[in-house]
This record gives sequence, structure tokens and C-alpha cells, in this order.
Amino acid sequence: MNLSGKHVLVGITASIAAYKSATLVRLLVKSGAHVKVVMTPDSLHFIGALTLATLSKNPVYSQYFDSTTGEWSNHVELGKWADVFVIAPATSNTISKMAHGQCDNLLLATYLSSDCPVFIAPAMDLDMFQHPAFRNNLKLLKSFGNYIINSTSGELASGLSGEGRMEEPEEIIKQLEAFKLDGTLTGKKILITAGPTYEAIDPVRFIGNHSSGKMGYALAKEAKNLGAEVILISGPVSIPSPEGIHVIHVKSADEMYDAVFKHQASYDIAILSAAVADYKPAQVAEQKIKKADNEHHLDLIKNKDILRSLGLVKKEGQFLVGFALETQNELENALVKLTEKNLDLIVLNSLNDSGAGFGGDTNLVKLITPDNIIDELPLQSKTEVAKQIIAKINQLIH
Ligand code: CTP
Repeated sequence: MNLSGKHVLVGITASIAAYKSATLVRLLVKSGAHVKVVMTPDSLHFIGALTLATLSKNPVYSQYFDSTTGEWSNHVELGKWADVFVIAPATSNTISKMAHGQCDNLLLATYLSSDCPVFIAPAMDLDMFQHPAFRNNLKLLKSFGNYIINSTSGELASGLSGEGRMEEPEEIIKQLEAFKLDGTLTGKKILITAGPTYEAIDPVRFIGNHSSGKMGYALAKEAKNLGAEVILISGPVSIPSPEGIHVIHVKSADEMYDAVFKHQASYDIAILSAAVADYKPAQVAEQKIKKADNEHHLDLIKNKDILRSLGLVKKEGQFLVGFALETQNELENALVKLTEKNLDLIVLNSLNDSGAGFGGDTNLVKLITPDNIIDELPLQSKTEVAKQIIAKINQLIH
């Protein structure tokens, strides 16, 4: 990654190695990066905010709000600002909280809100470094798609000697420069459907559903972060279009079908996360239907199944992903869909799980492949779920 012009967010936690963060910030600025610093409150005992603000040429963030001015630090904005987030030094405590979605300071909230590559440079004493609790947490963070800047061996603050020293700032810079920000999906064309479809009854009414589009939009952002060319075909949603992504807005299942099939021959990966209405009114009234009798019956006809249609004409080398939203016999039903629609991966949402499904910001899913291997992901933000779905696809196509 060429650091020049990149937005680099540096996270600092409470380790003696925090003194090296000043050099890291200085070197980042020297290489042309725009740098902001977010610190845990305890890290301020190790290095002063003034030093880092001066070096980074930006205010330093460490509190949710400033009690004198009442000004609020927006962790979401900070997370979205970053092209890359480097947490150096990262203590065992912060790594544990990151691994388990805890959020009791601004740095952690920013981590959970960021959708850019995150680099973690652990720093701690030898015994902590070797403890299975820490090793497990680090493994979890890796499985979320974060990058670990390995610690080195040497003299530690405790006087012991061994692994746990934070990597030197010059070496961290080298690792960032060697990292391909455009990542592993460069050259791939990814088609994503998102949101609900609206099936018109008359000029003012429709049949729809509660899909928010958040899952599909998070997938689109993650695929773009990894360098893919993304085509996002979206039903009506109220969330903003992601920056830098070509969004094709559609209303009905028929429009979505047509938009998808324009790219059928050229996609490498298609992820159909839209909640497409299964049925549409047999006839769309030209004028608004007036109320008359006590009962009104609507004739519905089946919509084309976009996913199944793509599966039928899937070419060698194309990778097709579907979603399944089930309320009973979840695994069996998802496996049937996987086979019948000729999919390479299915993402199973169960409406029986709290925190999963439509509307919310979290999701709880299982990833199932044709060889019946099931990955159960933990309850986490849709951004994290998207990262893991894309990471799984990446693993399967390579
Ligand atoms: N899907 C689609 N076109 C449709 C219906 C569904 O592309 N007309 C896609 C969805 O985007 C999702 C998958 O098919 O990826 C599963 O949708 P779901 O509604 O769970 O399953 P259905 O196949 O419609 O079956 P059922 O509603 O009976 O569970």
C-alpha cells in the first residue's frame, strides 16, 4: 500500500511500548499519510496526547465526549474516515475486548465501527503472550480478517526476556507498505443484490417486506475494500449508497432479475442477499383500487427466482452465493436450497435467533458449503459478518 494520501488511524493502548507510537505517527506523516490518533484512557499514562496531536497534526481522540465543551467524538465517523487502522501497541486487555465485541472506550467503539483493514501489533509480557486465553483471542481476531503484526523477542519491561515486544515502528511501516490494500479480490467482478423488492398492486400500493439492505450493503463495501469491482443491485432501502460503488436501484423482482441478468455472463462472484418477494399481483391496477366490498382478494403469481435462474446457467469458474431465511428445519431447508439452486455457498439466517435477520445491525449466520461443512459465526455486526462471508468466499475460490 502506498501510504501517501491514505487516511491512517493509529490506535494506542496502555503499554510501555506506547512511547514507540510517537515514532510510528512521525514516520506515517513523513510517508505522506493523513494520520489521526485514538487512545484508550489508560494509555495517556504512558504518552501524552499533546505529543501525538503535534506529530499527527490532528486532535487526539480518547473520550466519547469532552466534558468541558460537551463535544462528542463520533466513533462511526472516525472508523469510516480510516483507510487503514493500526493498533500499536495492542495490549492483551484490548485484544480480548476486540475479540469479544466489548466497547467500553472510544478505541474499541471505533474498531467495531470500522470497515477498513485493521492491523494489530501486540505488546505484553512473556507469560501473558504465551497464555492460551491471549492466543485464543488473537486467533479469533485473525479469523475476523484482522492482520497481526507479529511481536518480536527481546528484553521486556518486566526484565524478562522473550516474545511479546511490539514490532519496531520502521518495520510496521514496511509491513503496511508491503500490504496490498487492493487485496485479494482485485480483478474480480462481484454482483450483489440487496434489500427488499416492492411488487405493485396499484399506483400507490405494493407488497414488500422489512429487509433493510444492510447486509448486502456491508458485503458490497467489504468486497470493494478488497479491490473487487462491485455491482450492487438494490431494492428500495433507506440507507445511503456506499461511496465509490456503482448502485443500480430497482423496485420489483422483475426489474432486479433484468438488472442481474445484464451481468450474468460477466460476473465472477454473485451474492444474492436480497429479500425478493416470492409472489407479485397477477394484475397491476392502472388506477388506485377504491374500497368497495368488505373483502378484497388479490390474485398472486410467482416471481422468477433470480438465484435459481443464475444457478441454472452458472458457468465454470463462477461462484454463486445465496441466502436462506428459515424459521423451521433450518439446516435441512438450507441444504435443499444449496443443492437445488446449484450454489457454492449458502448463508443461513434463522429468524429463531435473537439479534439475527432483518432490520438490526447485527446478524447470526451459518455458512454452509456443498460438502456440508458448516461454519457457525458468532453474533456480530453486519460489517463483521460481511467480512467473514467475503473471507470464506476468498478462501473457497483460491
Ligand atoms: N431469491 C431470488 N429470487 C427470488 C426469491 C429468492 O433470487 N424470487 C434468492 C434470495 O436472494 C436468497 C435466496 O433466494 O438468496 C433464498 O430466498 P428464500 O426466500 O429464503 O427462499 P426461497 O427459495 O424463496 O424459498 P422459501 O421462501 O420457500 O423459503
